[in-house]
Amino acid sequence: MPDTPIVEKTVTELGDTTPEMVAIRFAELCSSFDVEMASQSADPESWKSFLVKWTGRKSGILSLIGENWLKSAPKELKPIVGQELNRFKRHVEAALEEKRREIEAAADETATARDRIDLSLPGVERAIGTRHIIRQTYEELERIFLSIGFSVVEGPEIETPYYNFEALNIPEHHPARDNMDTFYIEGTREAHLLRTHTSPMQIRTMEKQQPPVRIIVPGKVYRRDNPDSTHGYMFHQIEGLAVDTDITFCDFKGTVEYFVREFLGPKAKTRLRPSYFPFTEPSAEVDATCHVCGGSGCRVCKFSGWIELFGAGMVNPAVYGFVKYDAEKLSGFAFGMGVDRLAMMKYGITELPLLFQNDVRFLRQFP
Ligand code: DAH
Repeated sequence: MPDTPIVEKTVTELGDTTPEMVAIRFAELCSSFDVEMASQSADPESWKSFLVKWTGRKSGILSLIGENWLKSAPKELKPIVGQELNRFKRHVEAALEEKRREIEAAADETATARDRIDLSLPGVERAIGTRHIIRQTYEELERIFLSIGFSVVEGPEIETPYYNFEALNIPEHHPARDNMDTFYIEGTREAHLLRTHTSPMQIRTMEKQQPPVRIIVPGKVYRRDNPDSTHGYMFHQIEGLAVDTDITFCDFKGTVEYFVREFLGPKAKTRLRPSYFPFTEPSAEVDATCHVCGGSGCRVCKFSGWIELFGAGMVNPAVYGFVKYDAEKLSGFAFGMGVDRLAMMKYGITELPLLFQNDVRFLRQFP
């Protein structure tokens, strides 16, 4: 049978009959507390059971001493038991408080260590990205025209039929409207549409500005096209317009040739093919020798040696009538390029949708 623990016996049962014996008893208890205390780890579970063992309200050692030793102590020993018990209590409390602080400090330290920012570590690098291939092409086109005295203007994507068609010499029911079916703003069929080309800015510019005019107009345009590998409902254009008192067809041709050599390289040759646009007279399609085969014929130019670049021409005098320019004194030329087409041609891209899907694997190829 295990010995009854001393704290469950009375002072008399323990055989302590003098104050000295009581003091020794407490001194022994105190040192066994100290030994146990010293071997305590910071483990929260064992720390909790240690606390319960010594200070538990019902069966903790301190409570049991009060119950078993103090209450039933003989009269002459009661003062010394009470005194020693109080002293022991203070000792225990002080020791526990110190240990509690230690544990807290240790926990704080681990938390700080965990949260500490190590400034010497390399940072997370964010990819800045690159300019989109359409943007790069625009910048290239703008660079070329800015270098010969053109300036950039921009205009609204929501237009009126007047600027988009009428003032460009495309009256209602004109067949040139057929391939320019577009999106009308709901409820305003007559009043507003998404522009089908950047040409309306020719009119808006000449209305505001007296000649000389030398502008290029980058921007988005819209058409009700069925999407396929070369068509979408939206694409990018850059319009050009030069008007002055002495602009000839030679200036037009020279400018176009300069542009083609800048854009495709010094070996590229230019060809003008007769064409038709209501706002130019005469009108031309500008072709260049194929940049892939140099003109000898290949798959890209469908073995013709030529690539169609853009439409252009001398400004139709009828257009001057709409902006109150003097058609007798003024002349000029205009052109309109499909930027997506030019980019696809120059970089050998065969699918237009790739330009708008923003797949980084595609975009990264044009750093
Ligand atoms: N606006 C025409 C289109 O979108 C392109 C064009 C052709 C513009 C000839 C011009 C030009 O300024 O002279 O199809």
